[in-house]
Amino acid sequence: MYPIERVEALNAEVTRMTVRAPEIARKIRPGQFVMLRIDERGERIPLTMNDCDPEAGTVTIVFQAVGATTMRLARMRAGDALLDFAGPLGNPTELAGARRACVIGGGLGTAIAYPQAKWLHEHGCEVDVITGFRTKDLIILEDEINACSARQVIMTDDGSNGNKGVVTAPLQQRIDEGADYDLVLAVGPVIMMKFVAATTKPFGIKTLVSMNPLMIDGTGMCGGCRVKVGDEYLHACVDGPDFDGHLVDFDDAMRRGVMYRSFEGAAREAAAGRVASEGRDCGGSAAAGAVGAGADERKGA
Ligand SMILES: Cc1cc2nc3c(=O)[nH]c(=O)nc-3n(C[C@H](O)[C@H](O)[C@H](O)COP(=O)(O)OP(=O)(O)OC[C@H]3O[C@@H](n4cnc5c(N)ncnc54)[C@H](O)[C@@H]3O)c2cc1C
Ligand code: FES
Repeated sequence: MYPIERVEALNAEVTRMTVRAPEIARKIRPGQFVMLRIDERGERIPLTMNDCDPEAGTVTIVFQAVGATTMRLARMRAGDALLDFAGPLGNPTELAGARRACVIGGGLGTAIAYPQAKWLHEHGCEVDVITGFRTKDLIILEDEINACSARQVIMTDDGSNGNKGVVTAPLQQRIDEGADYDLVLAVGPVIMMKFVAATTKPFGIKTLVSMNPLMIDGTGMCGGCRVKVGDEYLHACVDGPDFDGHLVDFDDAMRRGVMYRSFEGAAREAAAGRVASEGRDCGGSAAAGAVGAGADERKGA
């Protein structure tokens, strides 16, 4: 079992959780993820390392309650334990050698991109971070990102933080001003990553995107997580999750992303019902709202 040491709500939809997993904490690197399972009846889901402390033996994850499993996870508390917490899985993000980087996070993707920004900063790279959220109440990790970036620009869809617009606008502006990035890393909704890649392509800036297709085993066996990259289909779990943004077929990824939506909706309703019938405050309407809005923001996504 993997004891939960700390649970903290970052906003109405997003939870930060620290789990005791010493073996993984020693090995895991930015960009890698774990597959966790709450208990015997639970599904395995992939969640990315947001932070780790090898000395304390802990791994921190940040997740958005979008469906059956993440809703149950958000109800867990310090002192509870997870049945499975397997990893590290996937490949670390290739960050070595970057001198000037722009890290871009969309919604929850901000939490997934944070360890890369931190690593780059600690290794002498000048890092700009651009993040985008639907509204100012959903902004997360502002202080943590300030601590590891030369510049942080936060955009909101509704302009409620005084900065209305999409993340590609400040990216384009920085490039036009001569930012001279040698790496752009984007983690967020597929549509956001598509437009980030389209923005950097004319300038030939190396652009990595973190893909989040449906994963079942996380070990390359099931074929569920295929992503079209150039002429071939690669597995996000073992070949990724980061890929060259100028080669990914984002339209294909978006088509595949909606294939299981009705099945997931049914599981989500069942989970909400189960939590409610267990006599807990399941945040019913709030959680349902988070699902509708969050589905496109998960992992950005
Ligand atoms: C490599 C990787 C890293 C991820 N890291 C994070 C993270 O750090 N934080 C976070 O909040 N989310 C992350 N996700 C997405 C997260 O795995 C899904 O939100 C979660 O599985 C949803 O499960 P559910 O039962 O709560 O919701 P469901 O109702 O089952 O699904 C809600 C949505 O999540 C997606 N999803 C469902 N099951 C999976 C699965 N097994 N694999 C991938 N996507 C799935 C579907 O696209 C669906 O639309 C990551 C996904 C991948 C592939
Ligand atoms: S999750 Fe099964 S092949 Fe990647």
